[in-house]
Amino acid sequence: MSEDSIHGPADDTAECGRRRFLSRLSIMVGSIAGVIVAIPSVAFLLGLRKVPHVWRTVGKLEDFQIGTTVKVAFLDPSPLPWSGVTARTAAWLRRETAQQFIAFSVDCTHLGCPVRWLPDANLFMCPCHGGVFYANGTVASGPPPKPLTQYPVRVQNGTVQILTSPLPITT
Ligand code: FES
Repeated sequence: MSEDSIHGPADDTAECGRRRFLSRLSIMVGSIAGVIVAIPSVAFLLGLRKVPHVWRTVGKLEDFQIGTTVKVAFLDPSPLPWSGVTARTAAWLRRETAQQFIAFSVDCTHLGCPVRWLPDANLFMCPCHGGVFYANGTVASGPPPKPLTQYPVRVQNGTVQILTSPLPITT
């Protein structure tokens, strides 16, 4: 039995129409998905997505000892609904006096690896490429091009708050 006796010209036309429809449908769905994914990035690049500066409470005043540097965690200033755990960020916080604090971003200014505080050496150390920062955040050695970024800190109603903002921190 020949192929023509099984499928007639009408079947071929219907098959071509179905393929064309599915092809156009997949292009349309792909385009829509691409636009949905690109909108937040394009808006951010064009400066249309305003990320707010938000004061986040990181603990009570009495939780922090003078002269001690500790890591504190807080929420990103404007987490996206799908951010999940990546919406959490951290800073190194040091209580300098009874009412004064200093906070540094954990992100190394070279390529963004999280820096560690070494209390015995009184230094911040980046594990990725050996960048070292002094206790005041300035570069001691290695590839980091600039000091650790600082967050503004305030004491409000017995709590310590950090002003969160997108990195690099804009005030
Ligand atoms: S990311 Fe810290 S030294 Fe490269």
